[in-house]
Amino acid sequence: METELIRVDPREPDQGVIEKAGRILRDGGLVAFPTETVYGLGGNGLDAASSAKIYRAKGRPSDNPLIIHIARMQDLDRVAAQVPEAARILARAFWPGPLTMIFPKAREVPYETTGGLESVAVRMPDHPVALALIRAAGGFVAAPSANRSGRPSPTLAAHVAEDLGGGIDLILDGGMVGIGLESTIVDLTGPTPMILRPGAVSRKMLRAHIKEVEMDPGLEEGEESKTPPKAPGMRYRHYAPQAPLMIVEGERMDVASYINRSIREKGQQAGILACAENVGLYPDGLVKCIGSREKEETIALHLYQALREFDQEDVTCIYSEAFDTPRMGHAIMNRLLKAAGHQVVKVSEGGDIPAN
Ligand code: TXA
Ligand code: MG
Repeated sequence: METELIRVDPREPDQGVIEKAGRILRDGGLVAFPTETVYGLGGNGLDAASSAKIYRAKGRPSDNPLIIHIARMQDLDRVAAQVPEAARILARAFWPGPLTMIFPKAREVPYETTGGLESVAVRMPDHPVALALIRAAGGFVAAPSANRSGRPSPTLAAHVAEDLGGGIDLILDGGMVGIGLESTIVDLTGPTPMILRPGAVSRKMLRAHIKEVEMDPGLEEGEESKTPPKAPGMRYRHYAPQAPLMIVEGERMDVASYINRSIREKGQQAGILACAENVGLYPDGLVKCIGSREKEETIALHLYQALREFDQEDVTCIYSEAFDTPRMGHAIMNRLLKAAGHQVVKVSEGGDIPAN
């Protein structure tokens, strides 16, 4: 299959191109498109065959459910069987935006889209191309991140082409995404809303609108945790670069001296992920600046790209600083810990303490 790539203006996409992409989706084809979080791989969310095609193109296990993307508030009630008041409040506050909510599914939603579950994930993305495409496709676009299963989510159309070129019909190239990490997922099927995946909408932001929000206990612990994460996709090892990745936590000078010493002692061809404030601390190794602690959005935006780039370089191991920044830190560290397979060392002047 030949995959066509068409550039679109992210603010004012050409209507002819959108119509063409919408037709592909209505005919059961697959179109990758930009959203404000990451690129999505779209299919018709109400069509079982089209969801099956998405799983095949990504090489994704078919028990890992897809998110249905909508463009109008009233369409929520077509795919969700019950919408609690808390969800309406959150939708008004954060949609369109990087928030996905989980509801009991309406009968019309096929099990192929929900990975066999009785619940459905729904999001209204905040991106002119995504919204126009959803409308042109008839309103309900199932879209996982447009990477091959196990690879970092794409933040550029080139990443989509790298992973899925030849396996899908069309890629709409709207340039770089805005956030760089996938949406926050909140489950509204239980007695208390629960965060299943941290994202740009933080718990604090949610609590400004609804009183109670829990964290999925399966999120916080490592891979051997007794309670598995509730979102099926959070259970898989994800985002892993080819070279082993180790996170080093501590005061900046202690972190730098630990990393520099390890590289020298082991004679490694190392990659280093550091923030702009610290890049000068690493004389050896291939240092990638992923953004500034002063502007934490820049760290979120460049994390996946940096992980992808390391796969093109000749490194045998990667060290990363920890990025526990105030707003996005929870989401950034959730992804980074997964990429590292939860390999963390905590360092201090007194010596190194393995953190797990
Ligand atoms: O930002 C995003 O959410 C992006 C863009 C394209 O919108 N999409 C995205 O989709 O990240 P995906 O498929 O890569 O991740 C969806 C996550 C998976 O971890 C999946 O297991 C979880 O959502 N999920 C979907 N439906 C669910 C459900 N009914 N119950 C629990 N988890 C669900
Ligand atoms: Mg994904």
